[in-house]
Amino acid sequence: MEKEIHKVKSIKGELRVPSDKSISHRSIILTSLAKGESTVKNFLKAGDTLTTLNVYRKLGVTIIEEKEIMRITGVNLYGYREPEDVLDMGNSGTTTRLTLGLLAGQSFFATLTGDDSLRKRPMGRVANPLREMGALIDGRKNGELLPLSVRGSKLKGTNFYNKKSSAQVKSALLIAGLLAEDITTVVEPVMSRDHTEKMLEAMDADIKIEKDNEYRVSITSGKELKGIDIEVPADPSSAAFFAAAAVLLPDSELLLKDVLINPTRDGFFRKLKEMGGKIEYTNIREKAKEPVADIYVRYSPDLRGIKIEKKDIPSMVDEIPLLILVATQADGETVITGAEELRVKESDRIKAVVNNLKNLGIEIEELPDGVILKGKQKIKGGTVDSYKDHRIAMGFSILGLISEEDIKIKNAESVFISYPEFYDHLEKVVVT
Ligand code: S3P
Repeated sequence: MEKEIHKVKSIKGELRVPSDKSISHRSIILTSLAKGESTVKNFLKAGDTLTTLNVYRKLGVTIIEEKEIMRITGVNLYGYREPEDVLDMGNSGTTTRLTLGLLAGQSFFATLTGDDSLRKRPMGRVANPLREMGALIDGRKNGELLPLSVRGSKLKGTNFYNKKSSAQVKSALLIAGLLAEDITTVVEPVMSRDHTEKMLEAMDADIKIEKDNEYRVSITSGKELKGIDIEVPADPSSAAFFAAAAVLLPDSELLLKDVLINPTRDGFFRKLKEMGGKIEYTNIREKAKEPVADIYVRYSPDLRGIKIEKKDIPSMVDEIPLLILVATQADGETVITGAEELRVKESDRIKAVVNNLKNLGIEIEELPDGVILKGKQKIKGGTVDSYKDHRIAMGFSILGLISEEDIKIKNAESVFISYPEFYDHLEKVVVT
């Protein structure tokens, strides 16, 4: 599907963007390990999280959808069923990596594959430390790429230094740690999103967290997990697109409701504020042990360029492409480094942004681990490609709202992965 986006006057109103993708995945994967039932309110129904739902049903987990609630009956650590066929992980890195940790400690065989994008993404980062724990995983390119097979086996605890600060790797190892002998410890130079730890804590897991120069989380196996009730807040990664539109468009005023503001996730909002963005957190409260706020965003005519470094990346890893697009309109230079992880996301997001911006006549320098660009550049319009990446499609749609001529986005249907209602919501809040 090709989507054409025109210039608009401003953004006004209120939005409750869809629920958080990371927490929705975990609300099935982790609660399936419990002894007893869990409920999930506001589960995200989008491509990636529906993949998780299907996969866990194929692993024998009973998941019942009621009106607003999902009921998940946990299988108590080892009660999963051997899947009859290859498990299709679609486009979802989170489902794949967390599930690898879970399957490694079961007592059956499973095979996993995914779409064109997922089959290119590195799985060695999870498979290798799991192998250290005793996992039997094999696959394409020396066991680094999907399709992968897992023969469940007895695992032992490990001590892993998570240099890339990948929450997916950390989560996979913590899940495997629940099924392993002794203690499993993950240490991070910069803390990655901690939804897995928070949820496991709520489920009564034997988990210990220490924070000093580094972040350290340890899990000890052997404890039964209890079912919990979860209410999923709105996804800050989805809210970010509308916040960007509101700061860029004159007269805009937007209230983004019920947004997760966990400090391991809200880096985009903090940096945008540092750039001069008019952003306020209101009505701060807690939902399912996670901090939540309504975010009030207004037109911000005095945006300044910014420097983003390695330590800033984890809390805004999925929002870097969008920040680059906003920076094209800020005053002065923006320099982003330490973001090499962007090259192995749903697409090579550095390349995707640089190629598309160049097609629109924007000057930008590509670095191996980021970009350098000058602000206050005019967007003339033209055609871009989403590279079948949901966040690239949504980011360039936002840029279309301030473009002199239309921006056409190829493969715009990819928004379904995290935000199926994106274009409907956009229509709701734009003033033409
Ligand atoms: C996620 C972790 C991040 C993020 C992804 C979701 C998660 O990936 O980019 O969209 O839910 O744990 P990495 O673990 O590869 O950094």
